[in-house]
Amino acid sequence: MSTHPSLKEFLLNTIQKAGDIVIDYSIKGFTINNKDGIDNNLVTEADKASEAFIIREIQTAYPDHAILSEEIGILKNTGHIKWIIDPIDGTVNFAHGFPLSTISISLEQNGIQIMGAVYNPFLKELYFAEKGKGAFLNNKKISVSTCNRLESSLIITGFPYIKNKEKLKKNLIIFEQLLTIQVAMRRIGCASMDLCWVASGKADAYYEYSLKPWDVAAGYLILEEAGGTVTNYQGDTYNPYEESIVSSNTIIHHDLLKIIQGVYNQDVYDPPACIIY
Ligand code: IPD
Ligand code: CA
Ligand code: CA
Repeated sequence: MSTHPSLKEFLLNTIQKAGDIVIDYSIKGFTINNKDGIDNNLVTEADKASEAFIIREIQTAYPDHAILSEEIGILKNTGHIKWIIDPIDGTVNFAHGFPLSTISISLEQNGIQIMGAVYNPFLKELYFAEKGKGAFLNNKKISVSTCNRLESSLIITGFPYIKNKEKLKKNLIIFEQLLTIQVAMRRIGCASMDLCWVASGKADAYYEYSLKPWDVAAGYLILEEAGGTVTNYQGDTYNPYEESIVSSNTIIHHDLLKIIQGVYNQDVYDPPACIIY
């Protein structure tokens, strides 16, 4: 399949219209439900309306394409082209009126992300990348930061709602170790935004465990196209079906991985020697 300009136009049009739907709900109000009985695992009326709209648009324009979308799951899992959709990434933020949520849509061909967009309708930030053609914020080319010391970096992380106690502890230790060396740590609650903010140089790195393809597929391509590096926690080649992600401006990647791996390779109940209390 060629990456015809109309596919890009379709993606950018659709994601911005979904953004309008999300903004509409943020003004008029919406119902909220829990998923799987977990307090902070939420789905709102706006997630469902955004998803229904995006899927309807895709099915009308590209009836042969497969779809993987967070709330509805897999639709038509055949063919070699698949849309991966997060109708609202950052639902907890959205439900609280905390204006950091996005819509994230990626286009996968034969297992490779070839085009992706992430849109924050509150900040009017529209990120886009096409494989091999660079990454853009509101049509302007973006690139990662030039920060070359972990100690002077700003790093984002996240903690998933569905808790694996062992992994949570390890991530808290990583967080503590980074704080101890004076890293400016942030937790935003929107994985796709996290990746795009590293891509555009607002942050120097982002890591998290337990993510899903719809959280990261588009942001991962945008970050790679902006000159960033993305691996899993083991430092291996990344794909959006991996659970863990370490992403950076490339320069500090090795040093960040060293800290993450140092923690993952030891007993979580053994506080690392370098921690100063
Ligand atoms: C969540 C956000 C959050 C991350 C969670 C995701 P959702 O997505 O991306 O930053 O920490 O793991 O589930 O549920 O708001 O679409
Ligand atoms: Ca998400
Ligand atoms: Ca979501």
